[in-house]
Amino acid sequence: MSNLDECYETVIELVKESGQLIRENICKQKNILIKSCDVDLVTETDRQVEKLLIDGISAKFPEHKFIGEETTAETNKKVTLTDDPTWIIDPVDGTMNFVHSLPHTCISIALWIDKIAEIGIVYNPVLEQFFTARKGKGAFLNGKPIHVSQETELQKALIMNELGTCRDPEKLRITIDNLTTLTPLIHGTRSLGSAALNMCMVAMGGADVNYEFGIHAWDVAAGDLIVREAGGVCIDPAGGNFDIMSRRVLCASTMPLAQKVAKVLTQYYPERD
Ligand code: IPD
Repeated sequence: MSNLDECYETVIELVKESGQLIRENICKQKNILIKSCDVDLVTETDRQVEKLLIDGISAKFPEHKFIGEETTAETNKKVTLTDDPTWIIDPVDGTMNFVHSLPHTCISIALWIDKIAEIGIVYNPVLEQFFTARKGKGAFLNGKPIHVSQETELQKALIMNELGTCRDPEKLRITIDNLTTLTPLIHGTRSLGSAALNMCMVAMGGADVNYEFGIHAWDVAAGDLIVREAGGVCIDPAGGNFDIMSRRVLCASTMPLAQKVAKVLTQYYPERD
């Protein structure tokens, strides 16, 4: 068994175990803390899941590094992605949904080595949607291969987007202006309230595009690989290469469609991760 196979099997078991915590707690009363701004929330479950994943992985792979949403918030330090094997973790993506007991919530975890995604997992334990991908091996939902939609036309596209957790007026104005620009040009827009699940909708062909300004590395590190392994593309919303630390993402079924969306978007550049 290769080292990557071992990493994959270890993380699958830990993610299943973490899913149990989310399932058990989603309908219970939560202790909610506020992080950076008004609607950036964290619960005890976010912290427990992140700890479970980091402790479990560290026990097997002590030399591996981590970029975890809650550890980063607690230490208040800038994150750095190096060439070392690094697990990028969002323990509960869609925390707002989790707080409201809305079942679109998931664990997102990815292993990046040499700044390249090797493993990506997004697991919604409430709706039992287990998305997995490994570099060069395809993308899967509950063990069955998934594929993007192949859509290339803007006027037929279903586009995922989020208002996000930041209430900076400039960012909100651009986000809403983009929806106003796009709406007459496309089929429609949707938001699941989880960046990782939005990306998985593109991967499984349920939506054609997802873009967002203001996401963090942990929201998109797994989704990026899952979309690309499902045959889609992941780029910067201005049309260039995807940069995981840029806090900007645009993924789509096809490159022509991604570029058509990039062309009409008003750009927003948040402070980098
Ligand atoms: C958030 C969700 C939300 C997206 C935000 C993310 P969190 O992650 O993915 O849908 O709009 O940009 O920060 O806080 O639930 O892990």
